[in-house]
Amino acid sequence: MRMRGWLLAGMVLGQAQAWAQAAPAAEPAPEQARAQAAAQDLGRQLKAALAQQLERGGTVGAITFCHEEAPLIAARVGAGHGVRIGRVAVAGRLRSPANTAESWQAQGLAGFEGRVAAGEPVSALVQVQRQDLPAGVALRLMRGIAVEPMCLACHGKELSADTRAALQRLYPRDAATGFAVGDLRGAMWVEVPAAQ
Ligand code: HEC
Repeated sequence: MRMRGWLLAGMVLGQAQAWAQAAPAAEPAPEQARAQAAAQDLGRQLKAALAQQLERGGTVGAITFCHEEAPLIAARVGAGHGVRIGRVAVAGRLRSPANTAESWQAQGLAGFEGRVAAGEPVSALVQVQRQDLPAGVALRLMRGIAVEPMCLACHGKELSADTRAALQRLYPRDAATGFAVGDLRGAMWVEVPAAQ
């Protein structure tokens, strides 16, 4: 009798655990998983391409590459995941005018700057919005982008004369230099469309 009681309790517990594992709350919504995968993919692809170009063509060659290819890589990654995706810069620190933040992105960045000022590391900066979105948009995600050592050749405080000249030629109003490792450079943003 006692044995059966234990057995029953064990079965109930096992069932509860199975439910807990299957519960939707334990996993992000599919739209969020898609946005996260797209952001991860773009970050990885840009960095891999950049490292390859730096090795091949040096800093100046890599600037031309970024200028021509970075927007195309973003468009391709977006199409592959069925989302809109891009990068923006913290306020006043833009390089390419094509990356000018839309108002929701500028608001997200302002929030990130506040969190960094309060001591949060850039790696923790993620923001997901599912409510109060325009028609046709299911989810918006933003993720902070930190300055790493490999970024300094083109975004740091001391640039070579060649690098300055190349940036000046392509981005006459460039404001994306003067950063240090660990600084918040900007953010990746993703917009997932609502299912048809
Ligand atoms: C070889 C030079 C070079 C290096 C190294 C480099 N960038 Fe850039 N970065 C650029 C160029 C050029 C653009 C503008 C691209 C465009 O026209 O879309 C840019 C644009 C950006 C943008 C988009 C916002 C804006 O201001 O236009 C972000 C964010 C960014 N870079 C972050 C980084 C990070 C983080 C690293 C290091 C992992 C890095 N960059 C390394 C040259 C570089």
